[in-house]
This record gives sequence, structure tokens and C-alpha cells, in this order.
Amino acid sequence: MEKLNKDKLPRHIAIIMDGNGRWAKKRILNRVSGHQKGAEAVREAVKTCRELGIEVLTLYAFSMENWNRPKGEVNALMHLLKRYLFEELDEMLENNIRLNAIGDLENLPNKVYKVLTDTIEKTKACKGMILNLALSYGGRDDIIHAVRKIISDCEAKKIKPENITEELFSNYLFTAGIPDPDLLIRTSGEHRISNFLLWQMAYTEIYITDTLWPDFKKEDLIEAILDFQSRERRFGLTSTQIKGRKKKGV
Ligand code: IPE
Ligand code: IPE
Ligand code: MG
Repeated sequence: MEKLNKDKLPRHIAIIMDGNGRWAKKRILNRVSGHQKGAEAVREAVKTCRELGIEVLTLYAFSMENWNRPKGEVNALMHLLKRYLFEELDEMLENNIRLNAIGDLENLPNKVYKVLTDTIEKTKACKGMILNLALSYGGRDDIIHAVRKIISDCEAKKIKPENITEELFSNYLFTAGIPDPDLLIRTSGEHRISNFLLWQMAYTEIYITDTLWPDFKKEDLIEAILDFQSRERRFGLTSTQIKGRKKKGV
């Protein structure tokens, strides 16, 4: 932790928490045990980000496509989610963490939806960090949802088509008001985005580790941030331009 540059922390970290099934398989356990162990890794990641002073942590907990998994696994994941929210409320309040959720939330089972909205409501005054859960989330769905709302606001004459900018579009996404992720971490070695924050990740730095999500510890998160800090984010400019800007303190 000492090695981290506190002035160069990512504001927003997004994580594709992958590999629970493989973790369980390696131990000849069922997939659900992997998800249970994964929930512990979630607790550690949240705690570490809060300690470090990260502003937003977005966790990909359940994708739109994950609904197509075997029914028993989907039910177990929903149950775990409900339990996690229920058990973590006090911890969130104590640590000043505000819960937010993105995705097609109304598709969640009623009981999960209820505890989710309750927790969001109860933590809404917390200012220390945003814990943003992507649930029943699809990046393409996020964009379609925004397009529909924009069209309906155009029809209602609230906005004009010529005023649609990237900034306005961003404000119609589920992540409205949240800065784009600076760092994306994907565990378990897969090199793909799997329909995560498609629009929002235009300039996100990507870090992939072979570590399976249940094995992902505080040290692994720090390692990812250190790697992020060693990179030069150029946003289309040349390295010389970036260095010149830094000198001028821009
Ligand atoms: C991630 O682990 C958890 C969810 C997608 C909900 P997986 O369940 O995808 O684990 P693998 O990829 O099968 O190892
Ligand atoms: C991505 O993992 C979704 C979550 C981590 C919630 P998957 O395991 O579903 O992704 P694919 O199927 O390997 O792309
Ligand atoms: Mg997977």
C-alpha cells in the first residue's frame, strides 16, 4: 500500500468478477460454493477501495446473459445477493458507503428488488464511496434504454435532436452522474468485455489477471492499481504532448 501514489488513484474502478465456477471446479466443489467464496472477495474489495479513498467501485455481479444459466445457479446467485445486501447494510453505513445499482433491475425477483431499493434508500446520505452494483446489466441494453428515453424526451419537446451530445447521452445511461471508469479489472484471465460498460469504457485502462475472483485479495487490487499508475493515459495525444501538459500542470 505504501508504494501507491495517493495523488494518482483511479477515481472509478470497475471489476468483472469472473472465475467463481473454475475456483469451485478446481476443488471439486459445486459452482455455488464458488459464488459463496466470491462474496467474501467482494467484501474485501469494497473494504480496500474504501480505505484507499476510491470514489466509485462498480462490480459486475450479474449480467443480462447470466439469466440463461441453469435455474438452480441463478436462484442461488439471487439468494446470495439478497443475503449480501442484508448483511452488509451496517458495514456500509459505518463506512459511509452509498449503494447504487445499474441494470434492468425490475427483472430481479421481487424480494431481491425490495432489499436492493431499501439498501439504496438507507445509504443515500453516505458520501465516502459509491458501491455501484451491475445487476441484470448489459452494456447494449444500457444504450438502447438511453436511446428510448432520449427519443421520448425529443417527442415531448424536452430536448432537441441537434442538442444531443456525448455528455447528454452519458446522462441518459444507468451510470448518469458517475465518472467513466479509469480502471477495469477482469479476473480469471479472459480477455473480453462481456457486455459490460460499453459506452463508458471508451478510455478505460484494462487490467487482466489470471487470479480467480474468490482468490482476489487486497494485495491483488493494489497490484492492479500500481499497474494502472505505471501507465501513460494518452487519450489520442502523443507522449510528448502529455509530458508537456504535465510540466505545465494541466
Ligand atoms: C463469475 O464467475 C460470477 C458470475 C458470472 C455471476 P463465473 O460463474 O462466471 O465463473 P467461471 O467463469 O464459470 O469460472
Ligand atoms: C461476466 O462473466 C459477468 C459477470 C462477471 C457478472 P461471465 O462469466 O458471464 O462472462 P463470459 O460468459 O465468460 O463472457
Ligand atoms: Mg465466467
